[in-house]
Amino acid sequence: MIADIAVIGGSGLYSLIEGEGAPHDLDTPYGTPSDPIVVGKVAGRTVAFLPRHGTDHRYPPHKIPYRANLWALRELGVRQILAPCAVGGLRPDHGPGTFVLPDQVVDRTTSRVGTFFDEGAHHTSFGDPYCPAGRRAVLDSAEVDIVDGGTMVVIEGPRFSTRAESQWYAAQGASIINMTGMPEAILARELGLCYTSIALVTDHDAGVVAGEAVTMEEVFRVFAENTERMKSLVLRTVAALPPEHSCA
Ligand code: ADE
Repeated sequence: MIADIAVIGGSGLYSLIEGEGAPHDLDTPYGTPSDPIVVGKVAGRTVAFLPRHGTDHRYPPHKIPYRANLWALRELGVRQILAPCAVGGLRPDHGPGTFVLPDQVVDRTTSRVGTFFDEGAHHTSFGDPYCPAGRRAVLDSAEVDIVDGGTMVVIEGPRFSTRAESQWYAAQGASIINMTGMPEAILARELGLCYTSIALVTDHDAGVVAGEAVTMEEVFRVFAENTERMKSLVLRTVAALPPEHSCA
């Protein structure tokens, strides 16, 4: 086992590694991952880092090699994944800078391969998509306010939603929206990996408040402004993750 925890998120999180990390170039039956996976020590644990869009952000959400990413992490021995992500807020009280720990997901993606089971009948239980032990570790270790629970709707992108779409998702009960949460979570589940999504709200989605609709620049700027807060949350969570996990 080379690493037992993985963080799939921005390359800004690399600096959590104590000293120099070791890059691993992996190939999988599903192609190569978004980037070499850097393994290093964080809070006494061995952690694998993978920027889901690639360090130079070359993969748009619908082109990320999700299957290669998850397969490669499993090859390294990873059993628990922390998945920080930028999301839009679908509720007026989920403004930029809010942390949300979703407990549900609605998959509205359309063009992605969302399974490793291409042959034969295999249907994976997914009623509770996120790891209870991972969620507990985030909540117990967080120094920042964090909203415990919420439904994340994952859209195909790469465009943002219209105001009507945004209002419709909110009316259906979703509280946050992004473009990368699926199929990452189900592919992790199919490989038996614990997966915890940690969402940072970067914008009010188009239907929530009047005025300018969300822009890419706004998303990038607010995420960058909050990198240190996200790093601290991930660091504390890694330290709090149970070494032996008992998830089914
Ligand atoms: N990622 C960050 N903000 C988003 C939004 N409003 N819609 C979809 N994905 C996002």
